[in-house]
Amino acid sequence: MDRIVIRGGYRLGGSVRVSAAKNAVLPILAATLLTADECRIRDIPEIQDVLTMNRLIELLGTEIRRDEDEWIFRTPEVRTSEASYDLVRMMRASILVMGPLLARTGQAVAGLPGGCAIGVRPIDLHLKGFAALGAEISLAHGRVQASVRGRLRGAHIYLDYPSVTATENILMAAVLADGTTTIENAAEEPEVVDLANFLNSMGARVSGAGTRLVRVEGVRELHGTAYTPIPDRIEAGTFLVAAAVTGGWVALENVVPDHLAAVIAKLREAGVAVETEGDRVLAEGPARPLATNVKTLPYPGFPTDMQAPFMSLLTIAQGTSVITETVFENRFRHVEELKRMGARIDIEGPSAIVHGVERLTGAPVTASDLRAGAALVVAGLVAEGETEIAGVHHIDRGYKDLVERLRTLGANIERVSGVPSLQYEE
Ligand code: EPZ
Repeated sequence: MDRIVIRGGYRLGGSVRVSAAKNAVLPILAATLLTADECRIRDIPEIQDVLTMNRLIELLGTEIRRDEDEWIFRTPEVRTSEASYDLVRMMRASILVMGPLLARTGQAVAGLPGGCAIGVRPIDLHLKGFAALGAEISLAHGRVQASVRGRLRGAHIYLDYPSVTATENILMAAVLADGTTTIENAAEEPEVVDLANFLNSMGARVSGAGTRLVRVEGVRELHGTAYTPIPDRIEAGTFLVAAAVTGGWVALENVVPDHLAAVIAKLREAGVAVETEGDRVLAEGPARPLATNVKTLPYPGFPTDMQAPFMSLLTIAQGTSVITETVFENRFRHVEELKRMGARIDIEGPSAIVHGVERLTGAPVTASDLRAGAALVVAGLVAEGETEIAGVHHIDRGYKDLVERLRTLGANIERVSGVPSLQYEE
């Protein structure tokens, strides 16, 4: 198993181009199942989750080929309406193929995604939406099945929680339904808006995306398109925090500053100088950050995916910070690992009380999930001495060439492959 080894204490400085957003690309790839025509998508980041989604839709009947920086997807016919059980277990976002399969073939079967490191991750809201659109839902042998005779019918759906992928799954089912669908209390994330824009570029009629009330006028069929997904606001935020924690600077290209408003506000409260200009964001860290409080919320609130990396910045702040995680029930797995590096953090229910310390010290640590891994990299950049991070496969799911890109910014970081992995309990 690979390890990432970082020697901390080097100020970062330089430019980075941000990749297309993982959490926009994943639903968009699923949405290519909705048409038999070609969909040409640019800038797709070759991260593990994207390769997993590609494999999943290929098994469903999608032909994928590469044409320079464009990937071309074509699904002349859906070979099967059952998503690979193993791939769904590997990546819960695979559940996003259910909406398109149901809309295109009248049936969708998937293994229950099950929980993961950050929480139970139920899909009840997805299924509630499919049922409202006229699908029969059944559970057997660890698989959930949604099926409808004929077309889905437009409906009014209220989401008990503004779930991102539930909103996206219901959107993709509703675009080919007979009649109008309204989704109330919908997720407002930029990735939901990007999916809606992608669907509209295929001839769908979605309005209100990015607000809590989304409206879909069903159409008979969708055609092909060419599309470039939005930049990854979480990758961008991770690089801003990585530069700031070292007291260094970074100039990000290919960013939508509005998508980072909450993160930029909190960086400024922590004493980081942030300037935005067009699709560029420039950040410079202080010698030592200031403590500030963070509460994660659905968009436009502070993104839960930035909670762990931002905590690493606050571990060395002057003063005490309170970080409250309201979106997932178990997203503090990185805390124990940060404490191995000398961080002083107390968990009190949904909050982490972070008492800023003068310095962190490098240590062998293990990533439990994607963003916890990012947090350990951020901490390693500023810790005295050497930090060795295991569980690198988690980081590969959502960050392309993170080690190489941090090295171009001046980090003393390398990826060591093949180190026999001790069996830490997961
Ligand atoms: C999406 O996950 C993202 N993944 C997550 O990013 C992100 O953390 C999350 O949204 C919140 O922003 C993708 O877009 C592929 P939710 P999702 O449904 O859709 C509860 C990363 O690191 N809920 O908005 O699964 C759920 O338990 C990943 O890139 C239900 O109760 O998140 C959670 O507490 C991690 N029933 C809350 O809603 C449901 O049917 C938010 O979950 C669905 C969700």
